[in-house]
Amino acid sequence: MQALLNTAVKAARKGGDTALRYLNRVADLDVRSKARNEFVSQVDHAAEAAIIESIRERYPHHGFLAEESGTHPGNEYLWIVDPLDGTTNFLHGFPVFSVSLALQVRGQLEVGVVYDPCRQELFTATRGGGAQLDGRRIRVSARPGLDGALIGTGFPFRSNDEWLPKYLAMLQAVMEATAGVRRPGSAALDLCYVAAGRLDGFWEFGLHAWDIAAGVLMIREAGGMVASLTPGGEVLDTGNVIAGAPKVHEALRALLAPHL
Ligand code: IPD
Ligand code: CA
Ligand code: CA
Repeated sequence: MQALLNTAVKAARKGGDTALRYLNRVADLDVRSKARNEFVSQVDHAAEAAIIESIRERYPHHGFLAEESGTHPGNEYLWIVDPLDGTTNFLHGFPVFSVSLALQVRGQLEVGVVYDPCRQELFTATRGGGAQLDGRRIRVSARPGLDGALIGTGFPFRSNDEWLPKYLAMLQAVMEATAGVRRPGSAALDLCYVAAGRLDGFWEFGLHAWDIAAGVLMIREAGGMVASLTPGGEVLDTGNVIAGAPKVHEALRALLAPHL
Protein backbone atom coordinates (compact mmCIF):
# COMPACT_ATOMS: atom_id res chain seq x y z
CA MET A 1 0.00 0.00 0.00
CA GLN A 2 2.91 2.35 0.64
CA ALA A 3 3.65 2.83 -3.07
CA LEU A 4 -0.01 3.64 -3.74
CA LEU A 5 -0.07 6.07 -0.83
CA ASN A 6 3.08 7.79 -2.11
CA THR A 7 1.47 8.14 -5.52
CA ALA A 8 -1.68 9.60 -3.94
CA VAL A 9 0.33 12.10 -1.89
CA LYS A 10 2.32 13.25 -4.90
CA ALA A 11 -0.85 13.68 -6.97
CA ALA A 12 -2.70 15.53 -4.19
CA ARG A 13 0.19 17.97 -3.78
CA LYS A 14 0.19 18.60 -7.53
CA GLY A 15 -3.54 19.27 -7.47
CA GLY A 16 -3.20 21.61 -4.48
CA ASP A 17 -0.29 23.49 -6.02
CA THR A 18 -2.29 23.97 -9.20
CA ALA A 19 -5.18 25.50 -7.22
CA LEU A 20 -2.82 27.80 -5.31
CA ARG A 21 -1.26 29.09 -8.54
CA TYR A 22 -4.71 30.19 -9.68
CA LEU A 23 -5.69 31.62 -6.30
CA ASN A 24 -3.63 34.80 -6.79
CA ARG A 25 -5.69 35.59 -9.85
CA VAL A 26 -9.10 35.25 -8.13
CA ALA A 27 -8.91 38.77 -6.69
CA ASP A 28 -8.52 40.30 -10.16
CA LEU A 29 -11.74 38.83 -11.50
CA ASP A 30 -14.83 40.91 -12.03
CA VAL A 31 -17.35 39.75 -9.39
CA ARG A 32 -20.33 40.27 -11.69
CA SER A 33 -19.05 38.55 -14.77
CA LYS A 34 -19.66 34.98 -15.69
CA ALA A 35 -15.91 34.88 -16.19
CA ARG A 36 -15.68 34.03 -12.49
CA ASN A 37 -17.53 30.78 -12.96
CA GLU A 38 -15.59 29.97 -16.08
CA PHE A 39 -12.40 30.69 -14.22
CA VAL A 40 -13.24 28.43 -11.34
CA SER A 41 -14.20 25.60 -13.62
CA GLN A 42 -10.84 26.09 -15.33
CA VAL A 43 -9.12 25.65 -11.95
CA ASP A 44 -11.14 22.52 -11.11
CA HIS A 45 -10.30 21.01 -14.49
CA ALA A 46 -6.62 21.95 -14.38
CA ALA A 47 -6.17 20.51 -10.88
CA GLU A 48 -8.02 17.33 -11.83
CA ALA A 49 -5.97 16.86 -14.99
CA ALA A 50 -2.74 17.28 -13.00
CA ILE A 51 -3.91 14.67 -10.46
CA ILE A 52 -5.00 12.10 -13.04
CA GLU A 53 -1.87 12.54 -15.13
CA SER A 54 0.32 12.11 -12.06
CA ILE A 55 -1.40 8.85 -11.04
CA ARG A 56 -1.49 7.53 -14.61
CA GLU A 57 2.27 8.01 -15.00
CA ARG A 58 2.70 5.31 -12.36
CA TYR A 59 -0.49 3.27 -12.83
CA PRO A 60 -1.70 3.55 -16.44
CA HIS A 61 -4.45 0.93 -16.04
CA HIS A 62 -6.21 2.28 -12.96
CA GLY A 63 -9.75 3.66 -13.25
CA PHE A 64 -11.08 7.02 -12.04
CA LEU A 65 -14.30 8.50 -10.75
CA ALA A 66 -13.53 12.20 -10.90
CA GLU A 67 -15.88 15.09 -10.19
CA GLU A 68 -15.10 17.09 -13.32
CA SER A 69 -14.37 14.48 -15.96
CA GLY A 70 -16.57 11.62 -14.72
CA THR A 71 -15.80 7.94 -15.02
CA HIS A 72 -12.63 6.64 -16.67
CA PRO A 73 -12.92 2.84 -16.79
CA GLY A 74 -9.90 0.82 -15.72
CA ASN A 75 -8.92 -2.30 -13.78
CA GLU A 76 -10.07 -3.12 -10.22
CA TYR A 77 -8.26 -0.06 -8.82
CA LEU A 78 -10.57 2.98 -8.72
CA TRP A 79 -9.42 6.46 -7.71
CA ILE A 80 -12.15 8.77 -6.43
CA VAL A 81 -11.09 12.37 -7.01
CA ASP A 82 -12.30 15.78 -5.91
CA PRO A 83 -9.66 18.15 -7.28
CA LEU A 84 -10.96 21.18 -5.37
CA ASP A 85 -13.31 20.65 -2.45
CA GLY A 86 -14.55 24.03 -1.32
CA THR A 87 -14.93 25.81 -4.65
CA THR A 88 -17.15 28.54 -3.25
CA ASN A 89 -14.54 29.35 -0.62
CA PHE A 90 -11.81 29.34 -3.25
CA LEU A 91 -13.71 31.76 -5.45
CA HIS A 92 -13.97 34.21 -2.57
CA GLY A 93 -10.38 33.82 -1.48
CA PHE A 94 -11.65 32.24 1.77
CA PRO A 95 -8.73 29.95 2.58
CA VAL A 96 -10.52 26.68 3.34
CA PHE A 97 -10.41 24.18 0.48
CA SER A 98 -8.71 20.90 -0.24
CA VAL A 99 -7.87 18.13 -2.65
CA SER A 100 -9.44 14.77 -1.84
CA LEU A 101 -8.24 11.45 -3.27
CA ALA A 102 -9.31 7.96 -2.29
CA LEU A 103 -8.42 4.58 -3.74
CA GLN A 104 -10.90 1.73 -3.76
CA VAL A 105 -9.71 -1.76 -4.66
CA ARG A 106 -12.58 -4.08 -5.64
CA GLY A 107 -14.96 -1.73 -3.83
CA GLN A 108 -12.94 -1.53 -0.60
CA LEU A 109 -11.42 1.80 0.52
CA GLU A 110 -7.66 1.26 0.87
CA VAL A 111 -6.03 4.72 0.69
CA GLY A 112 -7.25 8.23 1.50
CA VAL A 113 -5.40 11.52 1.13
CA VAL A 114 -6.71 15.03 1.78
CA TYR A 115 -4.37 17.97 1.21
CA ASP A 116 -5.00 21.52 2.43
CA PRO A 117 -2.71 23.68 0.31
CA CYS A 118 -3.29 26.87 2.35
CA ARG A 119 -2.03 25.31 5.59
CA GLN A 120 0.10 22.73 3.80
CA GLU A 121 -1.52 20.07 5.97
CA LEU A 122 -1.55 16.55 4.62
CA PHE A 123 -3.99 13.97 5.98
CA THR A 124 -3.33 10.36 5.01
CA ALA A 125 -4.85 6.98 5.81
CA THR A 126 -4.44 3.40 4.68
CA ARG A 127 -6.80 0.59 5.67
CA GLY A 128 -5.39 -1.05 8.80
CA GLY A 129 -2.50 1.44 8.90
CA GLY A 130 -4.14 4.27 10.87
CA ALA A 131 -4.61 7.93 9.98
CA GLN A 132 -1.90 10.58 10.03
CA LEU A 133 -1.54 14.34 9.83
CA ASP A 134 1.84 15.24 8.35
CA GLY A 135 3.07 11.76 9.26
CA ARG A 136 1.94 11.84 12.89
CA ARG A 137 -0.82 9.53 14.07
CA ILE A 138 -4.20 11.18 14.66
CA ARG A 139 -7.21 9.97 16.63
CA VAL A 140 -10.77 11.18 17.08
CA SER A 141 -11.54 13.06 20.28
CA ALA A 142 -12.24 11.23 23.53
CA ARG A 143 -15.36 13.32 24.21
CA PRO A 144 -18.05 11.20 25.91
CA GLY A 145 -21.10 12.99 24.44
CA LEU A 146 -22.53 16.22 23.05
CA ASP A 147 -21.92 18.36 26.10
CA GLY A 148 -19.08 20.75 25.22
CA ALA A 149 -18.70 19.23 21.73
CA LEU A 150 -17.73 21.21 18.64
CA ILE A 151 -19.72 19.92 15.65
CA GLY A 152 -19.09 20.52 11.95
CA THR A 153 -21.76 20.62 9.28
CA GLY A 154 -22.61 21.71 5.76
CA PHE A 155 -25.71 23.68 4.79
CA PRO A 156 -28.05 22.20 2.19
CA PHE A 157 -28.20 24.36 -0.93
CA ARG A 158 -29.57 24.39 -4.47
CA SER A 159 -30.59 20.91 -5.65
CA ASN A 160 -30.08 19.75 -2.11
CA ASP A 161 -32.48 22.24 -0.49
CA GLU A 162 -35.29 19.65 -0.10
CA TRP A 163 -33.57 19.04 3.23
CA LEU A 164 -33.59 22.65 4.36
CA PRO A 165 -36.64 22.74 6.70
CA LYS A 166 -35.62 19.50 8.44
CA TYR A 167 -32.03 20.64 8.49
CA LEU A 168 -32.86 23.91 10.26
CA ALA A 169 -34.64 22.01 13.04
CA MET A 170 -31.56 19.80 13.38
CA LEU A 171 -29.27 22.81 13.47
CA GLN A 172 -31.25 24.33 16.31
CA ALA A 173 -31.14 21.08 18.28
CA VAL A 174 -27.37 20.75 17.81
CA MET A 175 -26.73 24.41 18.67
CA GLU A 176 -28.66 23.98 21.91
CA ALA A 177 -26.91 20.75 22.90
CA THR A 178 -23.25 21.53 22.13
CA ALA A 179 -20.48 24.10 22.50
CA GLY A 180 -20.93 25.23 18.92
CA VAL A 181 -21.40 24.44 15.24
CA ARG A 182 -18.99 25.22 12.38
CA ARG A 183 -19.55 25.28 8.62
CA PRO A 184 -16.04 25.56 7.17
CA GLY A 185 -17.03 24.70 3.56
CA SER A 186 -14.91 21.72 2.55
CA ALA A 187 -16.56 18.44 3.51
CA ALA A 188 -13.36 16.48 2.86
CA LEU A 189 -11.47 18.64 5.35
CA ASP A 190 -14.35 18.61 7.83
CA LEU A 191 -14.10 14.82 8.00
CA CYS A 192 -10.33 15.03 8.50
CA TYR A 193 -10.89 17.48 11.34
CA VAL A 194 -13.14 14.89 12.99
CA ALA A 195 -10.38 12.32 12.49
CA ALA A 196 -7.88 14.69 14.12
CA GLY A 197 -10.16 15.52 17.06
CA ARG A 198 -10.50 19.17 16.00
CA LEU A 199 -14.23 18.55 15.59
CA ASP A 200 -16.07 16.03 17.75
CA GLY A 201 -18.72 15.22 15.16
CA PHE A 202 -20.17 16.17 11.78
CA TRP A 203 -23.34 15.82 9.70
CA GLU A 204 -24.35 16.88 6.21
CA PHE A 205 -26.84 15.81 3.52
CA GLY A 206 -26.40 15.37 -0.20
CA LEU A 207 -22.65 14.88 -0.50
CA HIS A 208 -20.99 12.94 -3.31
CA ALA A 209 -18.56 10.03 -3.10
CA TRP A 210 -15.65 12.30 -4.12
CA ASP A 211 -16.38 14.70 -1.22
CA ILE A 212 -16.23 12.00 1.42
CA ALA A 213 -14.42 8.81 0.33
CA ALA A 214 -11.00 9.85 1.69
CA GLY A 215 -12.51 11.33 4.86
CA VAL A 216 -14.52 8.19 5.57
CA LEU A 217 -11.36 6.06 5.64
CA MET A 218 -9.57 8.76 7.66
CA ILE A 219 -12.22 8.72 10.40
CA ARG A 220 -12.43 4.92 10.57
CA GLU A 221 -8.65 4.65 10.82
CA ALA A 222 -8.65 7.33 13.53
CA GLY A 223 -11.03 5.26 15.68
CA GLY A 224 -14.20 7.17 14.80
CA MET A 225 -17.57 6.25 13.33
CA VAL A 226 -18.98 7.36 10.01
CA ALA A 227 -22.23 6.13 8.50
CA SER A 228 -25.28 7.07 6.47
CA LEU A 229 -27.78 9.25 8.33
CA THR A 230 -30.59 7.84 6.22
CA PRO A 231 -31.55 4.28 5.27
CA GLY A 232 -30.97 3.04 1.74
CA GLY A 233 -27.33 2.12 1.49
CA GLU A 234 -23.79 2.83 2.53
CA VAL A 235 -22.68 6.38 3.23
CA LEU A 236 -20.81 6.65 -0.10
CA ASP A 237 -24.07 5.82 -1.88
CA THR A 238 -26.52 8.00 0.07
CA GLY A 239 -24.14 10.94 0.64
CA ASN A 240 -26.02 11.71 3.87
CA VAL A 241 -23.25 11.67 6.44
CA ILE A 242 -23.05 11.42 10.20
CA ALA A 243 -19.63 11.06 11.79
CA GLY A 244 -17.82 11.49 15.03
CA ALA A 245 -15.97 10.10 17.97
CA PRO A 246 -17.95 6.93 18.87
CA LYS A 247 -20.00 8.36 21.75
CA VAL A 248 -20.58 11.68 20.00
CA HIS A 249 -21.69 9.88 16.85
CA GLU A 250 -24.22 7.89 18.85
CA ALA A 251 -25.57 10.93 20.72
CA LEU A 252 -25.71 13.06 17.56
CA ARG A 253 -27.65 10.35 15.73
CA ALA A 254 -30.18 10.18 18.58
CA LEU A 255 -30.52 13.98 18.57
CA LEU A 256 -31.07 14.23 14.79
CA ALA A 257 -33.34 11.16 14.39
CA PRO A 258 -36.63 12.83 15.40
CA HIS A 259 -36.13 15.46 12.65
CA LEU A 260 -35.41 13.08 9.77
C1 IPD B 1 -18.68 21.11 -1.66
C2 IPD B 1 -18.01 21.16 -0.30
C3 IPD B 1 -18.94 21.72 0.73
C4 IPD B 1 -20.23 20.96 0.80
C5 IPD B 1 -20.87 20.89 -0.58
C6 IPD B 1 -19.90 20.28 -1.58
P1 IPD B 1 -17.27 21.40 -3.95
O1 IPD B 1 -17.82 20.55 -2.64
O2 IPD B 1 -17.61 19.88 0.12
O3 IPD B 1 -18.38 21.70 2.03
O4 IPD B 1 -21.10 21.58 1.70
O5 IPD B 1 -22.03 20.09 -0.49
O6 IPD B 1 -20.53 20.22 -2.85
O7 IPD B 1 -18.46 21.61 -4.84
O8 IPD B 1 -16.68 22.63 -3.46
O9 IPD B 1 -16.30 20.42 -4.53
CA1 CA C 1 -16.60 18.56 -3.24
CA1 CA D 1 -14.98 19.99 -6.23
